[in-house]
Formats: sequence, C-alpha cells, structure tokens
Amino acid sequence: MNSKLPHIKTNIFTKMSKLASDYNAINLSQGFPNFPIDDNLVDVLKEKSNKNIHQYMPMSGDPELLYKISALIKSTYKRTVNPETEVLITAGATQGIFTTILALINKNEEVIILDPSYDCYEPAVSLAGGKAKRLPLNDDFSPNWELIKKSINHSTRMLIINSPHNPSGRIWEEQDILCLEKLMMKNPNLLLLSDEVYEHITYDKKHISINTISSIINRSIIISSFGKTFHVTGWKVGYLVGPKTLIEEIKKVHQFNVFSVNSVAQASINSYVDLFNFSSIKPFFKKKRDLFQNLMKKSNFKLLPCEGTYFQLVDYSNISSLNDIKFCEKLTIDYGVAAIPISVFNESNNDNKIIRFCFAKDDETLINATNLLCKI
Ligand SMILES: Cc1ncc(COP(=O)(O)O)c(C=O)c1O
Repeated sequence: MNSKLPHIKTNIFTKMSKLASDYNAINLSQGFPNFPIDDNLVDVLKEKSNKNIHQYMPMSGDPELLYKISALIKSTYKRTVNPETEVLITAGATQGIFTTILALINKNEEVIILDPSYDCYEPAVSLAGGKAKRLPLNDDFSPNWELIKKSINHSTRMLIINSPHNPSGRIWEEQDILCLEKLMMKNPNLLLLSDEVYEHITYDKKHISINTISSIINRSIIISSFGKTFHVTGWKVGYLVGPKTLIEEIKKVHQFNVFSVNSVAQASINSYVDLFNFSSIKPFFKKKRDLFQNLMKKSNFKLLPCEGTYFQLVDYSNISSLNDIKFCEKLTIDYGVAAIPISVFNESNNDNKIIRFCFAKDDETLINATNLLCKI
C-alpha cells in the first residue's frame, strides 16, 4: 500500500483519551466538555426529532440557520455577509478546513502553518497535493513576522492562522493583525484561512476577528464551530464565512465530501441560537479557568498565560526531565490525570517540557484532578 499520509499515526487526542480510559485516569487531555449540555438545547433537540426533519438539508445548510449565522456575524462583528453565497455550514470546523484546503490549494502550492498548530491542517494540505511550510511561533506563541515574511515565495498560496490559539490559549495582539494586513497587502495572491473556533471563549483580551478586517476579508475564509460554542463537540456542526468566489469553489468540493450536514442538529442549533446568550460563554469559562488556576497554585507546575480557549498550558520542568510525551504517559498511568504533550503540535517535535490541560470540565473533575496534580 502506497500510503498517502505515510507519517500520520493515530492522533494524540485519541491516544491519550484511550490511555486515560485504560488506566481510569481523569481525562483533561482531549478538548471537550464533560458537563451536560443546556436543558434548552436538549428540549429543542427532542422537539425537532419529533418533527419530520430527518432527510437531506440543502447543500449549503439549513437556510434559516444560514440567515441566523449571517445575523450573528452582523451583531458580533458588524460585517454584512450574504447567507446564500458567503456562508457554508460544515460537518464541524474540521470538515470546513479540509474542504477549504482541498478546494483552494493546487499541486505544489505552499501553505504556511504556524507551529504549534492544530493537527488537521497539514494532512489536508498534503492530500490536496500542496506543501505545508510549518514555521514556529515565538516562544510566547506570538507570530514571528520576520520569519513569515521571509518564507513567502511565488508558490505560497495560503496562510493558516488560529486565534484564540489551541494549544497555547494565546490571543493575537492588534499589532499582529496590523502585520498580517501588511503582509496580505504585499502578497496579493495570498489567501488566509482563519481558524476562529474559540472566538467566543476569551478572557482578559479581546479577540480580533478577521471578520472585522475589511482590507483582507475578500481573500479570507473564517472558520467557526458550534461544537465549541454550545458545548456539543460531538454534533460536528461548524461553518465557513468567505467571499462568494471562494465559497463557490469550496461548495464544489463540499457537495461531494458531505453534501449536507446533519439535519436535526442544524435545525436544533437554528432554534437554540435565539435562546442562547452568547455573552454568557466568557464568564462561564472564566470561572472554570480561574478555579483551575487557583487550585493549581499549590502545585509544582508553572502555569502559562491563558487568554482564551479552554486550555491551560503548564511547564513541568521543576518536576521531571522526561520528554513531554513520556511525561504525559507517566502522568496518566502513575498519577491518574491525562494531558496532551505540546511537542506533537510542532513539526520539529521540540520538547519544551510543556503540556496542555483542558479545563472544560465540571468543578468536581477539576477539583479531583488538581488534588492529584498537587501531590506531584
Ligand atoms: C483550533 C481548532 N480548530 C478546529 C477544531 C475542530 O473543530 P470541530 O470539532 O468543529 O471539527 C478544533 C477542535 O478541537 C480546534 O481546536
């Protein structure tokens, strides 16, 4: 078998979740909430399930939900998007990213990915026949603009960015957005894929969405995920926003790799958008972040800044000299808490003795996990 992805193995999230389950450890590795979803959403789902909404939806998505997304973007970012031509509902952000790359990247075109990066970007570029150019972020996880500028050549077609950032929890500064704008202006053929799945999960700093940067929106695809926003990662419903010309190309691929997204989930989200208070997400997760950080103060782990997302990075160099993968295995097997090593998000697999905990968990889980972590 001539593998199309010879270097790809089962991803770290699957591996650590399985290890957590095998050793009955508390799973703070994979990024999903363990608490029940909102009763209102359950009610809406029941109601929709009893209606005859079980057949294919239109290819671009539930027309009503497309309008709601367009209205949400208007109210959140003051951007007007045409729901019929500039929005596409996808089977989670993952499919949106995959389909965008497959549709827009041609053979041998280069795509810049900033490491540490979420793991679904590079395989999509490889399968499209493109070349992923992975560039490290600075030590504080800010973009290294000199390096990015230097790395662009006539084959560079796309830059993928992600803020609020998984795994670091950092949010791009205004200065970074200005540098990005300048870079895009200097490189008129460059497309931008902005992964903003954590757009609503921010704390001390404001998230600057590419939806607000009018000079580059005509070359940008912006990705979001209802899975993250409504704590329903298993529903796999996300969406893309972009200019009509690009969305048209993306739809050509979308119609053959999913055609249309889960109908009941879309119909339920469509009703729930009206019931949900989007500004409640920040305080909800801030409370969890603060609880986790306060409980970890007594530990020997060093906490890194967390400005957004539901991930907390910690430095364990005071505790162990094991590499981060081995340390995560030991943490799961010997101490009963699963985490994610950061080296796997880097092409170089650089080990900086930093691991990631997910704090989107109920308080009891966070208390029990931190009790164990504070004993190390
Ligand atoms: C940065 C980032 N992008 C995309 C995704 C995928 O989102 P979805 O579950 O909607 O496919 C995730 C999920 O963890 C993520 O962290």
